[in-house]
Amino acid sequence: MKDQEIRLSEYGQKSVSAAPVSRMMVSFARDFREGVDINLGVGYVNEKTIPGRKIEEALHAVLARPERYRQALNYGEPQGSNNLIHSIKDFYRRCHIGGLPGKVLEKTEVVIGPSGITSLLEALAQVLPRGIVITTDPMYYIYCHVLERMGFEILAVPEDEEGIRMDRLAEKVKRLGVRKKEIQFLYIVTINNPTCTILSNRRRRQIVEWAFKLSAEEGRSIPVFFDKAYEEIIHDPRAEKPQSALSYDGQGIVYELGSLSKILAPALRIGYMMGPASAFLQAVRQRINDVGFSAPMITQEISSYLLDHCIEEQLAKVIAGYREKAVAVRRWIEEYLGEFLAECRGGQAGFYYYLTFAAMETTEGSPFFRFASRTTGNRVLDREGEALRPRAIYIPGEICVHSKGDLAAIGKRQLRISYGFEELEGIEKAIKILRDAALYARKERE
Ligand SMILES: Cc1ncc(COP(=O)(O)O)c(C=O)c1O
Repeated sequence: MKDQEIRLSEYGQKSVSAAPVSRMMVSFARDFREGVDINLGVGYVNEKTIPGRKIEEALHAVLARPERYRQALNYGEPQGSNNLIHSIKDFYRRCHIGGLPGKVLEKTEVVIGPSGITSLLEALAQVLPRGIVITTDPMYYIYCHVLERMGFEILAVPEDEEGIRMDRLAEKVKRLGVRKKEIQFLYIVTINNPTCTILSNRRRRQIVEWAFKLSAEEGRSIPVFFDKAYEEIIHDPRAEKPQSALSYDGQGIVYELGSLSKILAPALRIGYMMGPASAFLQAVRQRINDVGFSAPMITQEISSYLLDHCIEEQLAKVIAGYREKAVAVRRWIEEYLGEFLAECRGGQAGFYYYLTFAAMETTEGSPFFRFASRTTGNRVLDREGEALRPRAIYIPGEICVHSKGDLAAIGKRQLRISYGFEELEGIEKAIKILRDAALYARKERE
């Protein structure tokens, strides 16, 4: 470090080196070759699902009607645009989102984040005391890394096919002993990222009841935050319809986080939090004010227009698109990688598959990873003439599991692939590269 280095806060010091996944993605992005390399790592949505024309129409409509969309190019209020809040509630009512009864919806508060769910997650961590956060393992690594840098401790609990395991949760909390009092909140992703496991309604209720019990034991309210980023893209028609926990939250501890990123466009940066009025929510509003006053009014009003005018057909299009891809990709996973796999999760919702190899390591630097990223050092495998052969990029499971959790070892044999961003042709090509990588790694081991 230089003598005259600018002094940093604890958070600042922990943020100097990029989180592992950002480091990996930045290094790929630097020399990513459009149309050659295939990125199954990013959580980007599919470009074809973004309604560009409709967004353009909405922009014109908003600017043409200043009496309805007031001051759309000015600063906004920290709770968000009234039009958008009204449109979100109306969307929930019309499309029966979460099966919320009208009466519950009426008294539920909605706060729009300054920049998607991401910013609300940051805000809630900012206003809650430091301590232990309970979440599912594998975990939404991006937010969990943020929490750790902010000084929280993650208690990651393995999931089964219904979501976070209640028996393991009870065990782990028992093992905390007197440190149980340090539990601050639960963060549950309802369509888990990276696994796309759908939290069942039965499990959702068990989580809330467990939090009621813990709150009573501790003599304080311990909130549960359900992150529903992918909940509107459950595309398997056989999957259970999610029931919002807001309808049975008798104690005012449940908050839900929703987003328009996956169903309209991430660039709108619209995420919202729904739940009971409370001092906590007031503090979140103040935080929104502190970091930027509000989400940009123009994208809030555009989103309001889109929810009012075309969300039903848009949802149908998005769901059909991901369904088709999920089915095709599952087929290729079975065909090309089946013989190497112990488990494949996902395929009913969202756009990730989470694979567990029976014996193969997938970590950065493993033979499998080096083959897929063309860094084996063997010219024939890495290059064709002077050019690097096409690379397939994925998220190693090691990044997705908690480093001190029960899955730390198995995570080294796991990976997440996304079928969101890339088109089918590219995805098939990438899965074939992963097959060749598995064959190479098997040979290396022999
Ligand atoms: C679980 C989860 N929560 C939140 C987000 C981000 O949502 P937003 O775009 O609204 O910030 C993502 C994005 O991939 C996600 O996977």
